[in-house]
Amino acid sequence: MKMSITVRNSAREAVTIILAVVVLAAGCLPGAVAEVAASEDGATLYATCAACHGKDGGGLRDGTVPAIGGQPAAVVLKALEDFRAGRRRDLRMQHFTDAEHLSGTAALQAIAAYVAGLKRTTRVAQGAGTALEIGKREFARACSACHGAGGTAVAARGIPALAGQHASYLERKLREAMLPGNTRACSHGVIVSRLAEGQGAAIADWLSRQPGP
Ligand code: HEC
Ligand code: HEC
Repeated sequence: MKMSITVRNSAREAVTIILAVVVLAAGCLPGAVAEVAASEDGATLYATCAACHGKDGGGLRDGTVPAIGGQPAAVVLKALEDFRAGRRRDLRMQHFTDAEHLSGTAALQAIAAYVAGLKRTTRVAQGAGTALEIGKREFARACSACHGAGGTAVAARGIPALAGQHASYLERKLREAMLPGNTRACSHGVIVSRLAEGQGAAIADWLSRQPGP
């Protein structure tokens, strides 16, 4: 069951009350609750995220925290759900997406929608710029089948845009992909371990210079 309600300022309280009544009466109405929450809570909830990812979702140039602003909502949502469920591991993200911090699907959706709308202003960290042709060629050969020709997001598969991401973060992810026991993301370990010395950094550098989200 799905309800579509346009929430206008003056009507907001009334809608909230009506929804509360409807929800109580119907037992559950997740669709309707999610829609209202999505239009109201994203900015407030994002304050926690901003402490690390920045107000603009630009991340950190040292590669510890990725840029996320402008990634499609479906991509952000998948990442949040994966961290929350422990399918993707990072102590900080698992902590800030747990049930103590985010109540449920509606909250995750609201944040994802907010992140998707962010306009990044943080300058992207790039590499040395000395092997861009190699980066371009190797990305086309080894990565583009899944990541697309320009490294843009593939929302339907939950694949983030790599274009416009900090080269430092991309390089770190490629190094980590080869760590024993890392089974994430379509056997990246195997794909990355077949790259020659320096090619991973070249790909990361090239990607960081492509138009991002
Ligand atoms: C304490 C710092 C911290 C906080 C707070 C935090 N993050 Fe993160 N976030 C990180 C780090 C570090 C990573 C990279 C994890 C990794 O290396 O896989 C990350 C990764 C992500 C990713 C995956 C990006 C990608 O390209 O794969 C998304 C999406 C994300 N965070 C969104 C959020 C949202 C939304 C919030 C708020 C609910 C949030 N983060 C709060 C530090 C933080
Ligand atoms: C067989 C398909 C496939 C190929 C080939 C592939 N990727 Fe990915 N990649 C994925 C998928 C799927 C994800 C999203 C994983 C997720 O979030 O569950 C991903 C995510 C990533 C991420 C985000 C960080 C992370 O760990 O999630 C980076 C960086 C990345 N890929 C780099 C590369 C590079 C560089 C290449 C080429 C050397 C490459 N990938 C080749 C499928 C692929």
